[in-house]
Amino acid sequence: MRIAVVGASGAVGQEFLKVLEQRNFPLDELVLFGSARSAGKKYSFKGKELTVKELKHNDDFKDIDIALVSAGGSISKEFAETITKHGAIMIDNSSAFRMDEDVPLVVPEVNAEDAKNAPRNIIANPNCTTIQMVVALNAIEKISHIKRVHVSTYQAASGAGAKGMAELEEQYKSIVNGEEPQVSAFQYQLAMNMIPQVDVFADDDYTKEELKMYNETRKIMHSDIQVSATCVRVPILRAHSESVWVETEKPVSPEEAKEAFRNSEGIVLMDNVEKKEYPMPLFLAGKDEVFVGRVRKDISNPNGLTFWCVSDQIRKGAALNAVQIAEFLIKN
Ligand SMILES: NC(=O)c1ccc[n+]([C@@H]2O[C@H](COP(=O)([O-])OP(=O)(O)OC[C@H]3O[C@@H](n4cnc5c(N)ncnc54)[C@H](OP(=O)(O)O)[C@@H]3O)[C@@H](O)[C@H]2O)c1
Repeated sequence: MRIAVVGASGAVGQEFLKVLEQRNFPLDELVLFGSARSAGKKYSFKGKELTVKELKHNDDFKDIDIALVSAGGSISKEFAETITKHGAIMIDNSSAFRMDEDVPLVVPEVNAEDAKNAPRNIIANPNCTTIQMVVALNAIEKISHIKRVHVSTYQAASGAGAKGMAELEEQYKSIVNGEEPQVSAFQYQLAMNMIPQVDVFADDDYTKEELKMYNETRKIMHSDIQVSATCVRVPILRAHSESVWVETEKPVSPEEAKEAFRNSEGIVLMDNVEKKEYPMPLFLAGKDEVFVGRVRKDISNPNGLTFWCVSDQIRKGAALNAVQIAEFLIKN
């Protein structure tokens, strides 16, 4: 099994190295790719030093079985043919192919079987905010069909990659030193602030990130579910949080929902209001699961439930989800 990581120097690329090593992924060789900027850089994997190769239109993917790609949408589009032409499966973290009919969009806890039908040798990893939400929604869907979801996200700076994380840290340092914080990765200063815009504005004044939550949830869950999202960037480093309001066809009690969360793969229920137990990003960065808490009846809707969920979006929202897809492919 020969695995490639494309975009190895990035926030997701670096997480790929950790996840592959921690899960003892069955590989014989790991090959790292990047742009000319990181070509030649060395990263350690299982005690060995690996050197980043420059991604080029050549036959470097001839003997690769699975390519884990996280170098942005334009690179994925430009290099998909180069990566897949000799038979490698490309598991892509960008939004380039997610809504293409002949590209499966997969969250293994929800629709792993879809990964078996990839006629273009491309499997898309969903948007990070969508992944954690559908893992949680899938537990409720098993009790009653979900008609509608309203969701507000609280998205970490690292969702914008390594530069987003660095900018937030620099802004806090500048503030402490009495200097003017520099802004380039986000629309405004993020430190001491929240920005109700993730990605660019699109149809009906929703952002693209919000529309991804609508479209991708429907595709992954094979459902007519309606999703209205407001995505907000918040000044934390890592792990996204979401407030989710669900309307089901039949009423679902909080007890039933908690039981479903407790018994679902990939979810940890963290819900004890007496002990002030609920998920928080500060304490859950670096973890694999989707953490769910504050589960309660929506007092404004007899068929409504509301909950809060937190997950590390570089891990479950990107690298881990892609590696789980690769593991499923190997097993099947
Ligand atoms: N961060 C998240 O939470 C998250 C979550 C889900 C999905 N994603 C998606 O994952 C992808 C990567 O995100 P990220 O956060 O890891 O971004 P990032 O930290 O900015 O890293 C981008 C990576 O892309 C590489 N790259 C850029 N141009 C390239 C080229 N011409 N050839 C080869 N490699 C090139 C960079 O390599 P160099 O250093 O050589 O430039 C770097 O390794 C994006 O599509 C993003 O939407 C990110």
